[in-house]
Amino acid sequence: MSKTKETMDSRELGLVLGQQLLGIDDMHYGMWDEDLEVKFSNMAVAQQRYTDMLLADMPDPAQGDVRVIDIGCGTGHIFGQLLDKDYKADGLVPAPGFAKLVNQKLEARKDKPAHLFQIPFEQFPVAENSAEYDVALFSESFQYIPVEQSFPILEKIVKPGGVIIICDFFETENVGDGGPGDRSFGGGHNWKKFQQQMADSPFEIISDTDITSKMSPNLDMVNNFLMNVLAPAGQTLGRYMRINYPKTSKLFAWLFRKKFAKAKFKYFSGLRSKETFERYKTYHHIVLRVPEK
Ligand SMILES: C[S@@+](CC[C@H](N)C(=O)[O-])C[C@H]1O[C@@H](n2cnc3c(N)ncnc32)[C@H](O)[C@@H]1O
Repeated sequence: MSKTKETMDSRELGLVLGQQLLGIDDMHYGMWDEDLEVKFSNMAVAQQRYTDMLLADMPDPAQGDVRVIDIGCGTGHIFGQLLDKDYKADGLVPAPGFAKLVNQKLEARKDKPAHLFQIPFEQFPVAENSAEYDVALFSESFQYIPVEQSFPILEKIVKPGGVIIICDFFETENVGDGGPGDRSFGGGHNWKKFQQQMADSPFEIISDTDITSKMSPNLDMVNNFLMNVLAPAGQTLGRYMRINYPKTSKLFAWLFRKKFAKAKFKYFSGLRSKETFERYKTYHHIVLRVPEK
């Protein structure tokens, strides 16, 4: 049997490193209400507030079975909470590293029947899962899948009357204006185009809330960490390499000069700030309903 080659793109690498370096299980920005001081020790509270907001969109499992699919479930933190709250949940994550963490969580909840799809959503087995779910959840994962591919799959796998929850950021019309931090971080479908795609879709828009200002404080906090912790640590490591292995480090710097320059601009220019985010991204909490037949 031939083995499939494991791949990891740079966005996936960023997610995995972020999760490992910051030691957090949730991979979303968290909900920074005004009463919450923006500091790492409050991250878990901010992230739980965000998760609670998403859970509030779902039918109550005490009233009958609720089938949920957590698409792009990361480390499975929300997926685990869904199972704990008696939702009949499945997860989906393409990255093997994340899938391993999710499977560990499922292992600890063996009494709860749940399935993890380890594939990109674009390859979801639609025929076997026709009208299977009451809820399809995308928590900061919607941006990774072309809308032209996600919407037709959702139309088939979510039951009539079921809901699609999308919580993610989109690109604003300011992208490409050459302002400070323009293109310093990617991600997000074009908001204007997406609004049209929603309007043209068969789905009913139940709510669409702009929560950008509640998510953006996270950016300042992470920027601080990158500039004041990670950058100095990287410089120390670089100095050590230059002193002790001058030839290797020179070769290394030359070979990866383009990648280093890109990473420096993206992560260590100090431009990944709240202001940059609010200019180039718009973060939305959207609930769509699949019409009854
Ligand atoms: C920012 S993380 C969000 C994780 C989790 N939903 C959360 O809120 O903590 C984005 C997730 O999308 C997943 N992803 C990336 N490409 C995907 C695709 N084509 N289909 C489904 N999920 C994808 C990544 O593996 C990752 O788990």
